[in-house]
Amino acid sequence: MLLIGLSLLGLITGSLTAASKAANFDLPSAIFREHGCGEECEQLFNLAEKQDRQLFSSDFDFDFYATAPDFIGSHPGDLLKFESVNPNNLKISSGITIYRFQYTSRALNGTFVPATGFIGLPNNSSRSDEKHPAIAFAHGTSGVFRGCPPSTTPTLADYSSWSLLVNSGYAVVAPDYAGLGNDYIEHQYLSFPAHVNDLYYGMVAARQALPDSFTDEWMSVGHSQGGGASWKLSESPLHHRGGAGTYLGSVAIAPATKIYDIAVATMDILFQRLDYASYDIIYELAWLPIALKRAFPRASISFIAQEMQERVTLATEAQSCMSGILSLAHGLKPKELITDPAWVKHNRFLKRWQDWVAPANGAKAMGPLMIIQGLNDTAVLPEITIDSYDDTCRHGNEAHIRLYEGASHVDVFHTSAPEWLEFIRNQFAQEKGDFRGACSSATRDAVTDH
Ligand SMILES: *[C@@H]1O[C@H](CO)[C@@H](O)[C@H](O)[C@H]1NC(C)=O
Ligand SMILES: *[C@@H]1O[C@H](CO)[C@@H](O)[C@H](O)[C@H]1NC(C)=O
Ligand SMILES: *[C@@H]1O[C@H](CO)[C@@H](O)[C@H](O)[C@H]1NC(C)=O
Ligand SMILES: *[C@@H]1O[C@H](CO)[C@@H](O)[C@H](O)[C@H]1NC(C)=O
Repeated sequence: MLLIGLSLLGLITGSLTAASKAANFDLPSAIFREHGCGEECEQLFNLAEKQDRQLFSSDFDFDFYATAPDFIGSHPGDLLKFESVNPNNLKISSGITIYRFQYTSRALNGTFVPATGFIGLPNNSSRSDEKHPAIAFAHGTSGVFRGCPPSTTPTLADYSSWSLLVNSGYAVVAPDYAGLGNDYIEHQYLSFPAHVNDLYYGMVAARQALPDSFTDEWMSVGHSQGGGASWKLSESPLHHRGGAGTYLGSVAIAPATKIYDIAVATMDILFQRLDYASYDIIYELAWLPIALKRAFPRASISFIAQEMQERVTLATEAQSCMSGILSLAHGLKPKELITDPAWVKHNRFLKRWQDWVAPANGAKAMGPLMIIQGLNDTAVLPEITIDSYDDTCRHGNEAHIRLYEGASHVDVFHTSAPEWLEFIRNQFAQEKGDFRGACSSATRDAVTDH
């Protein structure tokens, strides 16, 4: 679920402006001590927060992210705000025009909520009607607090991710996910049906904003958290309602899928290993109690050890987006992370959450799915992705999984790009290409092109 690794070395100390920040706040030393975070823990956290402040460096535009007055009385898919973004405020490749927008989506329980996002269009179209094939882009984790939306960053949280699509001629509609940016609700992290609403209704609203820019056909591409979202979207009955256009399928790259299974595997397999601390998933445990509580406010999180809970409190105080919160498990032993493996396995809410929100849970897919997974991914465990692929095939859905030897969580996105871009091209051209049959699986070597 990582977007950025834990590379705390080689930091460039940026000039920090205090102006209108909504995340990654400074904390006084006393608070660290109160929560059992010693000097080294504090230092590491502060270094990591510096990295976050480089990504989330721009002033937070409180006006834009504030709930639009028109939200009251609006319906899902309604456009609430729309504006072009001054390219001088962005650090992205040239030849791309960026807009940002606010629209009405739905929370996990179906209530109407405001959501924000950006739209990226290639300046030129190769089509005679000047339209662009449309992609709903589901981003990987950028944080769980309101000040952490991709659309507030000068790079729009690009890591050769969505820009690969725009540079290939696609238009991207990229929701921030409700609760990131706007603060009407807290971001329902990893509750995938909520992200699906943001993707789907984002596509509906983008068509209102730019009626002549997109083809009727659309697909979804997602990474990590967003990989789970684009996968779940493929199994969503929303498509029957129209409005978003004709859905042609999804690509799920290093997807987060079954969170309960991942938590169990982390304890049963990783905690037995001497090198457990080299797995990114260990640090991501900090997000788990936050996510679970947001899905089930009454859920017990007693399976998270006291030491780790204290650090989650620190991250919440600081509204820390990525590197900061991910630094906090450093130095903690398995017993200081998880109280007792049995408490994870028997946590009613954790299992119920998975049964409710995970992809590959038995629903029928509305289009074909391509799954990409790096075999050196330590943030999303390959075993779980492969199990989810098996599940969806067992349920009769079309899925094509491609496993990349040696590829890590973030690298796999561009390493595998030729293959998933071909899948997308085929779908828009209504051709099967190499992707025949209901399900297929193949492993790609680390370096050789296929
Ligand atoms: C768009 O087309 C114009 C005219 O053909 C060309 O000069 C320009 O470089 C193109 N821009 C991009 C981003 O491809
Ligand atoms: C693309 O369009 C944007 C906005 O119209 C403009 O700022 C940018 O210079 C254009 N880029 C190219 C390469 O034409
Ligand atoms: C639905 O979820 C939202 C956001 O978490 C919450 O504010 C609202 O009270 C919930 N509504 C119901 C009926 O449970
Ligand atoms: C992948 O992981 C294996 C085992 O941990 C390691 O030996 C190998 O160097 C890694 N490969 C790459 C390309 O990082």
